Amino acid sequence: MRTVHSLKELRTILRGYRQQGKTIGLVPTMGNLHEGHISLVRKAAESADVVVTSIFVNPMQFGAHEDLDKYPRTLAEDQEKLAEAGNTLVFAPPVEEVYPEGLARQTKVVVPEVSEGHCGASRPGHFEGVATVVTMLFNMVQPDLAVFGEKDFQQLAVIRKLVRDLRIPVEIIGAPTVREDDGLAKSSRNGYLSETERRIAPRLYQIMRETADRIQQGRTDYPALEQEASAALAEAGFRPDYVNIVNSVTLKPAAPDDPEITLLVAAFLGTTRLIDNLSLTR
Ligand code: PAF
Repeated sequence: MRTVHSLKELRTILRGYRQQGKTIGLVPTMGNLHEGHISLVRKAAESADVVVTSIFVNPMQFGAHEDLDKYPRTLAEDQEKLAEAGNTLVFAPPVEEVYPEGLARQTKVVVPEVSEGHCGASRPGHFEGVATVVTMLFNMVQPDLAVFGEKDFQQLAVIRKLVRDLRIPVEIIGAPTVREDDGLAKSSRNGYLSETERRIAPRLYQIMRETADRIQQGRTDYPALEQEASAALAEAGFRPDYVNIVNSVTLKPAAPDDPEITLLVAAFLGTTRLIDNLSLTR
């Protein structure tokens, strides 16, 4: 498996694959890879001949007080895991390769509506940063398909709208969230948790399941259910950011007769912000 750092090299290699008639799958990541990412690589390999994983900690999607500086950079370990998973090529550009003129002078991509609310409200500018870098990665790699985790439910919705609206010819594939045995969704940020916080963390998914059970039992008083889940999270030791019960397609507050519903949750444990989601059909 090869790793390249420059766009020029990347394009030269990919041209070769295309001339051989090979299809290309892209898995965009910020590195510090865990089993969740590896499942995306395997999913891409099911449908594409060549899998390119990008590793780029994108400064544009981090807020001023977020964890850009402390975000783990673990390229050597990531390369090992990717090689084992059957990845073909790693694209790990330095910041200057992606944003040669700096962030302030960079053209940006804004995806309205689905970017608003939820993480978009708590992290202003975050989805603009994601949409911009993902558009650039699509243009750099020109993949046939790209795989994203359903763990970042709103991000996946933003990317689906982005390719639809801009007519970008890339098939977007969502891959299910990979969880620890105790239900905690795998995330690079789990590594920030102290031992005590790690013990509390699985309550997030348990509380979400309890809320989903109440919906399945017929409750449709969603604002009250959101309040109850929020209170349960606070009681467990979290500082809830939001608990939102939404229409799975529009991400707007769910109506009692919506058949496809998703519970979107973000909550802090100490300084670590965890997000998770759970979709259900009524
Ligand atoms: O999900 C992530 O890791 C990032 O948001 C992504 C899609 C790689 C863009 O930087």
